[in-house]
Order: sequence, then C-alpha cells, then structure tokens
Amino acid sequence: MTAETAEYTKPFDIFTEWMKEAEANEPNDPNGMALATVDAEGRPSLRMVLLKGWAEDGFRFFTNLTSRKGHDLEANQNVALLFHWKSLRRQIRIEGSVSPVTTEEADEYFASRPRGSRIGAWASKQSAPMEGRFEFEGRIAKYTTEYAVGEIPRPDFWSGFLVTPKRFEFWMDRPFRLHDRHQYDLTEDGTGWSVSTLYP
Ligand SMILES: Cc1cc2nc3c(=O)[nH]c(=O)nc-3n(C[C@H](O)[C@H](O)[C@H](O)COP(=O)(O)O)c2cc1C
Repeated sequence: MTAETAEYTKPFDIFTEWMKEAEANEPNDPNGMALATVDAEGRPSLRMVLLKGWAEDGFRFFTNLTSRKGHDLEANQNVALLFHWKSLRRQIRIEGSVSPVTTEEADEYFASRPRGSRIGAWASKQSAPMEGRFEFEGRIAKYTTEYAVGEIPRPDFWSGFLVTPKRFEFWMDRPFRLHDRHQYDLTEDGTGWSVSTLYP
C-alpha cells in the first residue's frame, strides 16, 4: 500500500501551498478548521476554530480552557482537524495530539488581539449556560470598566494548543468523483512520512 517515504517537511509544504491558495480564493476565514475532540467517556464532538499559526512543530489554535473543548482536551489529547475549502474543492484532514502552548506564546497572541476581543475573552464563560444576552452584556460592561486603562492581562483560563500531527490526508476534487487522496503517516522513527494513495 505504501508507495514511498517522504521527508519530514513534505506534508507541511503541501499544507502551506494549499493554504496560500485558500487565502487567495476563500471569501471568509480560509484558516477556519473543524476541530474534533473526544470527552472522558469517548464521545466525539466538533466545532470550528481558527488556525493561528503553523510550522513544522504543528498547528496552533486558541480558546477558553473551561469550555467544552477545553475539558475534552484535558481528558483526551487526541484530536482531528479538518479544512474544507469550497472555492478550491479541496480538503485536508490532520490527526494528532495536543499539548499546551507556552505561556509566552499565549501572552503574545492574546496581546495581538483587538481590545474588544480581549475584553470578550474575560467576559465569556465559554460553553456555560447563560440566562440571557443582558447577563453577558453586564459582564462585558464590568470588564470594560475594570480594564478601561492600561494593558489587559490574559485570563489564566484562556490559552492555546499545539496540534502535533501524526497523519495528514490531502483530498483534491477530480471529475466523476474520482478524487485524488494522498495520506501521509508519520514513520515510527518520527523523521519522515510513509505516503499512501487511497481509493476515493
Ligand atoms: C469560523 C469560526 C471560527 C471560530 N474560531 C474559534 C476559535 O479560534 N476559538 C474558539 O474558542 N472558538 C472559535 N469559534 C467558536 C467555536 O466554534 C465554538 O462555538 C466555541 O469555541 C465553543 O465550543 P465548545 O463548546 O465545543 O468548547 C469559531 C467559530 C467559527 C464559526
């Protein structure tokens, strides 16, 4: 089944190339990706998040650590990511595991966000039930006053994760649904990828 072994950077290079094309073509959020997590009972769930950086060490996103996904990631570090770009008719699947980003990285990214988003991070009890929008607006007003002047610190319940990939699959549309699928699996020594072509 395995046709060849690719050097370690190969799937990251393809990802970068496809992402560049998506950035040029997608009307909104080319960096939007579905993130699948699994809870302590083994139940999966999915939601969209924004990819906020990638390199050969993996893919980064940021979120509220007390959210549903935050609890899932505490219980089970296995995740899957999915990019689907309708304008390109392409899909990338990534599977791997998460680890927390460093405090410095989280601080740096938090500080780069617009002031309103930083206030919003403080005000939102992400994924907790809310009595009504008024309750949320009250919290936004509270933190807007509290942080009216000076820097807004990063809440300790808000940070990011690094997804270290173990598998990539690149899917490209072809006529008559005879699509191209190329799968890259991390080799046992972790230095390269075994490449397989899959039936569509
Ligand atoms: C395009 C898009 C991008 C999003 N990006 C993020 C993100 O980067 N981080 C985040 O916490 N939520 C993001 N969200 C909201 C999540 O999809 C989700 O509603 C929220 O994180 C709560 O998910 P949870 O209850 O599973 O933890 C995004 C939603 C959309 C539609």
